[in-house]
Amino acid sequence: MSEIKSVAVAGASGTLGPHVLKALIDANFQVTVLTRAAKPGAYDTSVKVVEVDYTSVDSLTAALKGIDALVSAVGHGATESQTILIDASVAAGVKRFIPSEYGSVSTNSKLETFPIYAPMFKIKHYLQEKAKAGKLTWTVLACGGFLEFLFGQPFLLDFANHKANLFDEGDNRMTSTSLPNVGKAIASILKNAKATENKIVRISEVIVTQNGLLKIAEEVRPDIKWEISKVPTSAILKQGLDGVAAGDFSMPTVMKILTGTVAAGDTYGAAYDETDNELLGIKEFSEEDLKKLVAEKLA
Ligand SMILES: NC(=O)c1ccc[n+]([C@@H]2O[C@H](COP(=O)([O-])OP(=O)(O)OC[C@H]3O[C@@H](n4cnc5c(N)ncnc54)[C@H](OP(=O)(O)O)[C@@H]3O)[C@@H](O)[C@H]2O)c1
Repeated sequence: MSEIKSVAVAGASGTLGPHVLKALIDANFQVTVLTRAAKPGAYDTSVKVVEVDYTSVDSLTAALKGIDALVSAVGHGATESQTILIDASVAAGVKRFIPSEYGSVSTNSKLETFPIYAPMFKIKHYLQEKAKAGKLTWTVLACGGFLEFLFGQPFLLDFANHKANLFDEGDNRMTSTSLPNVGKAIASILKNAKATENKIVRISEVIVTQNGLLKIAEEVRPDIKWEISKVPTSAILKQGLDGVAAGDFSMPTVMKILTGTVAAGDTYGAAYDETDNELLGIKEFSEEDLKKLVAEKLA
C-alpha cells in the first residue's frame, strides 16, 4: 500500500476528536475535517474543513476525493451510520478506514449481540466485507477506558469524597490510555499502514485495579480514611440488560451495561497483556507515574 498522506477526520470537535487532530497535524499529515456544521475558529488553520451530510453517500464521496485515510471519531450514537461513511470511502478511493470505536471490551466476541456493542460489531463486519472484496483496508484501535474518564469521575475511586465502591472484590484489571496517546496511536497506525492493515490493534498505557489504586492512595495520603463498599459487576450488567429489554435506552441504563462489562476485568478482557504499544510508540506508565497521578487527584 502506498504511503498515506492525506487524512480526513469525522467528528473532530468532540471529546476524542481534537486529540486525533493534533496528533495528525503533529505527524505532518494533510488533514481535512468533516463536520455537520463548521464551527469558525475551532480548528488549526492548516486544516481544511468541509461541511457534509452524513446521510448522503454523494455528499461524503465528494468530500473524500483525494483522501488516503479516514479516521472516524463520531460520537457513540452515530456508530451504526458509519456504513454510509464506509460506502463513500470506497466510492472515493480511500485506502484505510479507522472506525469510531476506541473501546475497552468492544472487540470481545462474547459481547457481539449485547446492546451498545452490537453496532460496533456490525461496522467491523462491514469493513471486513469491503476489505475481502479489495475495496479498502481497515484498522480498529482498542485502547481501554480513556484515562481522563476513569480518573476524572468517581468511577474507579471517588477521589473527592474518599469513597471506593469496589467492583466485585476490587481486583478486576482494566486497561486505560489517555486521550493524547489515543490520538498518537491513530497517527502511528497511519504511519505504519502495512503492519496495521485489516487488524484490531491494542494499546495500553496502564493496567489498573481499584485495590491497587487504593494501596497507592493510602501510601501517598495515609491521613485519609476511605469508605469502602462492594458491588458485583454481574448485578450491574443484569440491571442494564433488563432495562434495555424493557425498552429503557436511557443513559443510566446504557452506562450499567458499559460498567458491567468494562469493570468486570478479565471476564470480558478489559486488561490487555499483549499490546501494540511498541509498534505505535505508546510509552507505558511507571509506578511513579501512577503514584503521581493518584497524588494529584488527592491534593
Ligand atoms: N474508551 C473510552 O473510555 C471511551 C469514552 C468515550 C468515548 N469513546 C469512544 O470514542 C469515540 C468518540 O467519542 P466522543 O465522546 O469523542 O464523541 P462525541 O464527543 O460525542 O462526538 C464526536 C463528534 O461526532 C460528531 N457527531 C455527533 N453526532 C453525530 C451524528 N449523529 N452523525 C455524525 N457525526 C456526529 C460531532 O462532530 P460535528 O458536530 O463536527 O459533526 C461530534 O463533535 C466513540 O467511538 C466513543 O464510543 C470511548
